[in-house]
Amino acid sequence: MELNSNISAVITGAASGLGAGTAKALAAKGVKVGILDVNEELGAKTAAEIGGTFARCDVTDEASVDTALAAVRAAHGQERILINCAGIAIGKRLVRKDRETGAISHHDIASYTRVININLIGTFTMIAKCAAGMVTLDPTGPDNERGMIISTASVAAEDGQIGQVAYAASKGGVQSMTLPVARDLAKDGIRVAAILPGLFHTPMFDGLPDEAKDALAASVPFPSRLGTPAEYAQLALSICENVMLNGVNIRLDGAVRLAPR
Ligand SMILES: NC(=O)c1ccc[n+]([C@@H]2O[C@H](COP(=O)([O-])OP(=O)(O)OC[C@H]3O[C@@H](n4cnc5c(N)ncnc54)[C@H](O)[C@@H]3O)[C@@H](O)[C@H]2O)c1
Repeated sequence: MELNSNISAVITGAASGLGAGTAKALAAKGVKVGILDVNEELGAKTAAEIGGTFARCDVTDEASVDTALAAVRAAHGQERILINCAGIAIGKRLVRKDRETGAISHHDIASYTRVININLIGTFTMIAKCAAGMVTLDPTGPDNERGMIISTASVAAEDGQIGQVAYAASKGGVQSMTLPVARDLAKDGIRVAAILPGLFHTPMFDGLPDEAKDALAASVPFPSRLGTPAEYAQLALSICENVMLNGVNIRLDGAVRLAPR
C-alpha cells in the first residue's frame, strides 16, 4: 500500500510509546492520523505535534470505540490502516506465600480479566469495527488492496516470564488471531499482521531503575540495547508498503529470548 495524503490511519494507544512513534512516522508520509487513547492530555499533545486528530477512546468500551471512530472518520474519512498499540502490562505470580504469615494467595481474577479485556478483546474490537469500515473502501493499486491491520503482541506471547501469565496469555491471543483474521479478510483485500516487540524504550519502562534498564538492554544479543519507537514504526510502515506480508507475526527483538525471570 502506498503511504500518502490520500489515506488515513487509526492508531490506538498512540498517545505515547510505540503508537506515538508510528503516528509520527505515518504523518511524515502525509497519512492523516487519528489517535485513539484513554490518555486525553498526552493524546491531544501528540496529535497536535503531528497535525493529527485525537479522540478519547477506551478500547474495552464498545460505545467509546464507536464514538471515537466516528469522530476521526468525520475528520479524515474511512481509515485504510489500523494499528493496535493500546495495551497494559502487569507483573503478578500465580501463587504467592506471605513470608511472615505463611498465608497463600493466588493471582486475582480481576486483574487477569482486565489485561485480557484491554490487550486482547480491545484489539479484537478495533479489528472488527475497522475491518467492517475498510470493506466499504474502493480497492487501490495493482493488487486491489483495501486495508491493513497491524496489531502489537509481544515476545512474551512466546517466552512469557515469571509473573507474566496474564500479559503472555493476552499477547498469545493477539498472535493467534493474525492468521484467521487474515484468512477472513483476504477476499476483501485487507492484510493482517502482528509485531512481537522485544524490549523497547517507552514510558512502560520509565518506572524501572537505571540498573534494571541496563540489565535488560544487556540481555539483547545484538544490538545490546533497548529498541526505539522509531524502529517499531519503521517495521510497521514496511509491512504497510509490502503487499506480500500477510497473516504473519514478526518478532522485532535483536534475537532476545526472555529468560524465566
Ligand atoms: N515497550 C515494550 O518493550 C513492549 C514490548 C512488547 C510489547 N509491547 C506492547 O506495545 C504496545 C505499546 O506499548 P508501549 O511500550 O508503547 O507503552 P505505552 O504505555 O507508552 O503505550 C500504551 C498506550 O496505551 C494506552 N492505553 C492503555 N489502556 C488503554 C485503553 N483501555 N484504551 C485505549 N488506550 C489505552 C495508554 O494510555 C498508552 O498511551 C502495548 O500493547 C505493549 O504491550 C511493548
